[in-house]
Amino acid sequence: MSPQRVLSGMRPTGQLHLGHYHGVLKNWLKLQNEYECFFFVADWHALTTDYENPQLIASYVWDNVIDWLAVGVNPGSARLFIQSRVPEHAELHLLLSMFTPLSWLERVPTYKDQQEKLSNRDLTTYGFLGYPLLQTADIMIYKAGFVPVGEDQVAHVELAREIARRFNHLYGKEPGFEAKVLAAAKKMGKKNNLLYHDLRRNYQEQGDALALEKARAMVERQQNISIGDRERLTGYLEGSGKMIFPEPQALLTKAAKMPGLDGQKMSKSYGNTISLRDTPAAVTEKIRTMPTDPARVRRNDPGHPDKCPVWNLHEVYSSEDQKNWAREGCISAGIGCLDCKQPVIESILKELAPIRKRFVASFPRVANRHGKWPVKLWMRCGRLLV
Ligand code: TRP
Ligand code: SF4
Repeated sequence: MSPQRVLSGMRPTGQLHLGHYHGVLKNWLKLQNEYECFFFVADWHALTTDYENPQLIASYVWDNVIDWLAVGVNPGSARLFIQSRVPEHAELHLLLSMFTPLSWLERVPTYKDQQEKLSNRDLTTYGFLGYPLLQTADIMIYKAGFVPVGEDQVAHVELAREIARRFNHLYGKEPGFEAKVLAAAKKMGKKNNLLYHDLRRNYQEQGDALALEKARAMVERQQNISIGDRERLTGYLEGSGKMIFPEPQALLTKAAKMPGLDGQKMSKSYGNTISLRDTPAAVTEKIRTMPTDPARVRRNDPGHPDKCPVWNLHEVYSSEDQKNWAREGCISAGIGCLDCKQPVIESILKELAPIRKRFVASFPRVANRHGKWPVKLWMRCGRLLV
């Protein structure tokens, strides 16, 4: 049981952009200071939809890791790893598949949704159906307590909970369970033994969730009991078998939707992104050439922010004062569109500057090693040391 452990993965499907930064990475930066974090490149997950381009995925793997480091993900605090270098992910996925009913996978909403959305690809594959089960294996291997996800992935964490429960139900049973639990509880000492049974009774008879939490924490704190006894003591609180895998919880992240250059959500497939690696000149050019309210043909034509994608960026980056200035200037034709864009350009450059600085500082070192990485990969435990 590791209730304070967070696990999160990202599929390497392209260059990281401001959408990733606002939607995922900023949250990781916060989490890495608050929890024990495991962050990984989900390259096998990328393969479920892009199986025709494995080389491309392989190249994005390292690009993504570089960008994580550049934004400030700290390998001294969070563990970073690459899914495919830890073959146990595939192994557990296989084992879980033995008892996972097909219907559980078929009813996960993303299965049908994504098939419709990515209709240019054939996703009636076994691998794609198993996508959330592979994700379940990712989570279960590390016994993660929390999984930061957006709204669309909550159903995947829900599946992981069901699978963990089923696993515990199937494999947590053993002859003489009750006698073993009682013996294990005694090993915690006289006082703890009594407290353990009191807390369990409070939970089971009165549904006291706090008592359950306290009892779990108490079992977690014990240093002199075996893994088996720990699983028995945790399992006995709620049922009649070992708790081998904890049930993970979704850590819902507020969907910070980053608008793209055309007003739609920023996404590679819309070609409307600002990459974390764009040079200041490229960023400036991209924003200067952004479309604006078509009503503003000439400098003197008034426009309306509601019809302009630049306004969406003001919403993300500008202070109230700045927004009032832009709104009034737009409606009254008091300012031109280039004037209006200037503070947005400056804010984005300011946000990207430290990222770019770290990137430029480390990239030559990387390149000089003839494509080899100055990293040690601890494959078995999945820890990446930079
Ligand atoms: N499915 C996630 C996504 O598309 C990526 C992912 C794979 C993941 N395995 C995970 C996220 C485990 C959290 C935990 O973004
Ligand atoms: Fe858009 Fe600003 Fe031009 Fe108005 S002034 S159309 S908000 S860029």
